[in-house]
Amino acid sequence: MVPRPRNQGATISRTGSDLVLKLYNAIRSLGSAQHDLTALNETLGGLAKKGGTLSIRISRDRLYLNHDRIEMRSGHSVHRILLNELKKRKIGKIEFREPPDDEDLAEFLRCFLSMGDHNLPDGETLQRLLRKKKIESIRVEGLTPEDIEEDLGSSYERHAHYTRIYLYAMRLLKELFGQVDRGEECSDLDLTRRVVRTIVLGYADSPAAFMGLATIKSNREFLPNHSVNVAIYAIALGHRIGLSHRFLVDLGLAGFLHDIGESRLSWLGTNESRGLSEQEWTEATNHPALGVKTMMNAVGSREPAASRLLAGIFEHHLRDDLSGFPKLMRKKDVSLVGKIISLADFYDVFTRPYGENRFPCFSGRILQLIVERSGRDFDSTLTKYFARIVGPLPVGTLCRLDTGELGIVCSLMEEGMTGDRPWVRLLVSAGEIYRRRDAVSLKLMDKETGKYQRSIIEIIDPNELKIDVAEHLVPF
Ligand SMILES: [Fe+2]
Ligand SMILES: [Fe+2]
Repeated sequence: MVPRPRNQGATISRTGSDLVLKLYNAIRSLGSAQHDLTALNETLGGLAKKGGTLSIRISRDRLYLNHDRIEMRSGHSVHRILLNELKKRKIGKIEFREPPDDEDLAEFLRCFLSMGDHNLPDGETLQRLLRKKKIESIRVEGLTPEDIEEDLGSSYERHAHYTRIYLYAMRLLKELFGQVDRGEECSDLDLTRRVVRTIVLGYADSPAAFMGLATIKSNREFLPNHSVNVAIYAIALGHRIGLSHRFLVDLGLAGFLHDIGESRLSWLGTNESRGLSEQEWTEATNHPALGVKTMMNAVGSREPAASRLLAGIFEHHLRDDLSGFPKLMRKKDVSLVGKIISLADFYDVFTRPYGENRFPCFSGRILQLIVERSGRDFDSTLTKYFARIVGPLPVGTLCRLDTGELGIVCSLMEEGMTGDRPWVRLLVSAGEIYRRRDAVSLKLMDKETGKYQRSIIEIIDPNELKIDVAEHLVPF
């Protein structure tokens, strides 16, 4: 039976989130010079005073503090990382029967981390270790079959739900860009903002689902598809650097509408083979200014975040050194929104099918291109954060494993605490047709040999095998 969250909203949310954050920090810093358990112990002590035994547990893919659901704070993904680390170790519950002393707490964390070096044994193994070390104040339980069953169901449902939101956002933008092209008044911008808000909350809940959705690259529906993807990448980066929920929504809206000026240039994209004439090039490079004009006509000062939105539209092709376009008459600083949209725009454009390459391609090579341009085209600090999100094995990377299987990377670098061995969605081939199979962790080890069960031996361009990775990552 799954407990219903109690209506204690703000207090529980804050307390639970604090505990999650401190537990996460304690795990991350274990063994480093910054390692300090005081903050975690104080929180545990304070909570214990209020209500005796404390437990952090998983139910239906959510974290609970005792019977109260821990709300995720917008602005960081610590909650999701901790949840995933518990799930990978098949730990359903950690119970603090009394505030443990520093030594017991440190030993518990060491045992918790050491499990990652073996074949991800279940929570019961950790409990046996704790008993052996005579640690009575902390108890661990494994995930129950009911939890796992519900988890799989809810995870698929959520993924399908986010897919519907993604496709709805594309339809909404297609309609909006059509209105702009026909010179009609833009429809309800509040609705567009509400959709962005849903994506911001959805991203915080499941970053990998959204990064998987952004592998959809439809050139037939280029503008709406590109715009939703840019919003997702921008939200991901904004989320990573800890922007507020409100800022993230403004940022997402700027991603949605950054190319609205292009919707007035319907000939653009129809002449890829012959290139652009000088006149067309002038018009094309004017699309940021045209976009600003369009938005000002459409919303004027009605839009609550007009300045961020307009900055994102105007600056998304301006480089960090102010090269790019539009050409500026005088020096100005590029806004944070402009810098983020510019990076997100570049990443989406460079992963799209182009020319003879009919399938989108993800690999560390794009990250390398971005890093090479850091400080000149892109803000160097933002580039570093973006690199941490996509990593050398971005979601969507097609790879061959040493078992001979094909797989597609389907987890974010940051979702695991070690990050270098992602989850991959396995593919099985029947002639030229590929079907998706289970997702597996590359951290799994063979009990007998003590070696990893699967390792990546080669990154493959999906164009070689005619594979559209989105078809296998998204539950259409
Ligand atoms: Fe653009
Ligand atoms: Fe763009």
